Parts: sequence; C-alpha cells; structure tokens
Amino acid sequence: MLASIRADYDAISIEGARIVAELVRKKPDCVLGFATGSSPLKLYQELIRMHREEGLDFSKVTTFNLDEYVGLPPSHDQSYHYFMWENLFKHINVDSRYVHIPAGMADDIEEQCEWYEERIDEVGGIDLQILGIGENGHIAFNEPGSSLGSRTRIKTLTEKTRQGNARFFGSMDQVPKYAITMGIGTIMEAWRLLLLASGKKKAQAIKDTLEGPISAMVPATIVQMHQHATLLIDEDAASMLTVDWQLD
Ligand code: F6R
Repeated sequence: MLASIRADYDAISIEGARIVAELVRKKPDCVLGFATGSSPLKLYQELIRMHREEGLDFSKVTTFNLDEYVGLPPSHDQSYHYFMWENLFKHINVDSRYVHIPAGMADDIEEQCEWYEERIDEVGGIDLQILGIGENGHIAFNEPGSSLGSRTRIKTLTEKTRQGNARFFGSMDQVPKYAITMGIGTIMEAWRLLLLASGKKKAQAIKDTLEGPISAMVPATIVQMHQHATLLIDEDAASMLTVDWQLD
C-alpha cells in the first residue's frame, strides 16, 4: 500500500488522472473501474482535458462502475448512469458497448449482480479501480458490517445514507432504498486500487484505513491487504495520521 499525501484536491486529482492516463497509453484496451461522487470529479475533468488536448484515446477501454441505485432509470439525474455520462463518458471517446454500470432497473436484480461478476471475469478483471471513501469508511455501497469477502449484490441503504441524499431527491420517500454494489471481494480483485480522499471530513476514515486494524466495521481498511493500492490523500484528509507516511 502506498499513501501519497498531496497539498489539496486539485493535486490528488491531477496525480490520479496521470496514473489512469499512463495505464490507458500503455494498455489501450485496459479495464477501468469508476466511482461516482465528488472525490473523482476533478480527476474525470482532467481525463477529459487530456482527451481533448492530448488525444488520450478511450475507444478500446472497458469500464465498470462500482454501484447504482435500484429503481432509478438511467435518465434520472441522481442515477449513477446519468452522473457518469454527464461527468465523463459523453466528453470522451469511450465506446458505449464497453461501458458497464449495474442496471438498477433490471427485473431480476440477483441475476444482474451475477451477470456483472461474470462480465468482469470475461474481460479478464479490472486493471485499475478508482475508489472514494465514505466518512464511515465505506467503499462503494459496502457500509460498515459488510462482509470483507462480499461480491456484487443488492444492499439496503442505511437511514443515514438515505437522509444524507434526501436533498437531491426532494423528499425522503423518493430516495431509493436499495442499491446494487460491487462487493469488497470484487473490488479487492482489481489489479490496482486508486483511492482518493480529500477534506477534513475524511480524516478519521483515512486514519482508520491506514493505521487501524482491518475490520468489516470500516470496510476501507481491507485495502491494507491489497498488493497495489495507492491512496491519494490531501493534507486535510491526512490531518489525523500519526505515522509519517510518504510525503511527496
Ligand atoms: C460512489 C461510491 C461511494 C463514494 C463515497 C464517497 O460510486 O461508491 O462509496 O465513493 O461515498 O463519496 P464522495 O466522493 O462524494 O465523498
């Protein structure tokens, strides 16, 4: 595990994009795992810039997203489909046939989860998975208590997560109750992990992730076991660390 502490959100985003772009150039048909949320937004903007200005080519790249709400159509502005197309895919030359986001509208959600795992296997696994981290240490929708060996499955959202999202939906009733998420075991099989954390609100989760014992109660701690995990952390998110992690 490599922890790289950088000044701020811009700095971690630019470094993250550099790592992704390096892989895309070296292996044009690589498999990238994407996350939604605020953490990777600037990284995506930087990839868009590299596509426009430097011709970074995504035409052969396959993508898998971590998660999606159950019951939201792709056109819903809070769906993760919508997020990914608005914030990245429509601005780069990704081939829509190679884009995978769990289908939250699938009739048979269990079958959809199995299919998702099979697709990841079929393409040879994820080369690089981008991750954010929740304030409680969640990764994807794997909230505290999730099995560390879990696979892609349906999860009930916690009341706290639903309340936190209510502002985006108008009222609590409209907030989805379930999501499809890659499991922790699925995420751990990616060849490389790139976890981004920015801001004081993430400081406790980052301290637990780097310095705490591995525990299902803080799912992100499992990255300690990963062979090629890079944590890009800004100074605010690193502010509670006690060990002198690599500063570069
Ligand atoms: C998003 C996801 C979530 C977020 C996490 C952090 O696909 O899987 O686990 O990465 O909630 O969210 P932000 O980046 O908005 O702080």
